[in-house]
Amino acid sequence: MELPPNIVWHNPTVTRERRQEMNGHRSCVLWFTGLSGAGKSTMAHAVEEMLHRAGCRTFVLDGDNVRHGLSSNLGFSDDDRRENIRRIGEAAKLMMEAGVITLTAFISPFRADRVIARQLTPEGDFLEIYCRASLATCEARDPKGLYKKARAGLIKNYTGIDSPYEEPEAPELVVDTDELSLEESVEKVLNLLKDHGILTR
Ligand code: ADX
Repeated sequence: MELPPNIVWHNPTVTRERRQEMNGHRSCVLWFTGLSGAGKSTMAHAVEEMLHRAGCRTFVLDGDNVRHGLSSNLGFSDDDRRENIRRIGEAAKLMMEAGVITLTAFISPFRADRVIARQLTPEGDFLEIYCRASLATCEARDPKGLYKKARAGLIKNYTGIDSPYEEPEAPELVVDTDELSLEESVEKVLNLLKDHGILTR
């Protein structure tokens, strides 16, 4: 890693490994991506609920919430989305270093930005989950009424309408949320965690 000038990296004695050992599970970044209304937040929180009940340390970084604070100075231009995802990638990495199973729920529409977030973490620690639902389904759900506003021209650069969504090419998991129930979707994610050895008890 290249360091900025006059900044010296300090290695902690309490390492990620020691935290994981204390927690009884590995940490990772579970990166949910997909259109607005595809079910990212719903699924991330439902998975977190199950993990929490099982005694795991978890945290959800959620699109709308992060845009109230960490990213409150950002909008929805391509550059702002890029910066949003850069911040979330770094924040998720910190939380993973803290031993936490970190779930992120952002549209994260650009493939290159997701690759950058992935590359912040060691191989195998970043699990990309594509919440796949057709635009028609997401628009029919329209939980916040924003697709309707975007169609009416009241919101510009809306993902899926006049701003692109680039599908993942090789996500660790695809969940078709217009075909599966929430329970089935959660089950798939929990199985993914088991397959990757995140849950060790
Ligand atoms: S991202 O593109 O930078 O990853 P993010 O997940 O943080 O987006 O925010 C998406 C949420 O912001 C949507 O669920 C929606 O509620 C709201 N939103 C407001 N304006 C837009 C827009 N132009 N495009 C997409 N989502 C928007």
